[in-house]
Amino acid sequence: MKIGIEIVKSLEALVDSEENLIANLANTSSLLMSSGNYHWVGFYFVDKEQDELVLGPFQGPIACTRLKRGRGVCAKSWESKKTIYVEDVESFEGHIACSSLSKSEVVIPLIVKDEVVAVLDIDSAEIQGFSLSEISIFESIVKVIQAKW
Ligand code: SME
Repeated sequence: MKIGIEIVKSLEALVDSEENLIANLANTSSLLMSSGNYHWVGFYFVDKEQDELVLGPFQGPIACTRLKRGRGVCAKSWESKKTIYVEDVESFEGHIACSSLSKSEVVIPLIVKDEVVAVLDIDSAEIQGFSLSEISIFESIVKVIQAKW
């Protein structure tokens, strides 16, 4: 595992005194990226008007700006309201390769008042790049952010 549970405390301290969402999401991306050896970390917001996902604060290579419903890992997390772990992106039909270096991916929905408002997407350059305890830490990070939404 690349990150430890202490990252959740660091994040709480980081966002505690700031209410600006973009600032908090930008620093969350940076904290994750600098703590773990990830290929890409960032957020996609639900754009209700366009009924698609739009790129938010992130760290890593340039990414797809918009993701449509019904295709890809982020859309699956949005639509199912569940964490999705894809151990090998080649085996996920409809995976959207913003970067060909991404080999595995975890997407966690941010749910506020029972509605998905955004997703946190983390990509690894390794197949099976995530442990289950690491994914549970991502979910704790999302809980901290949801509480600030
Ligand atoms: N792979 C994602 C697209 C976003 S990028 O990985 C940054 C997907 O299939 O939805």
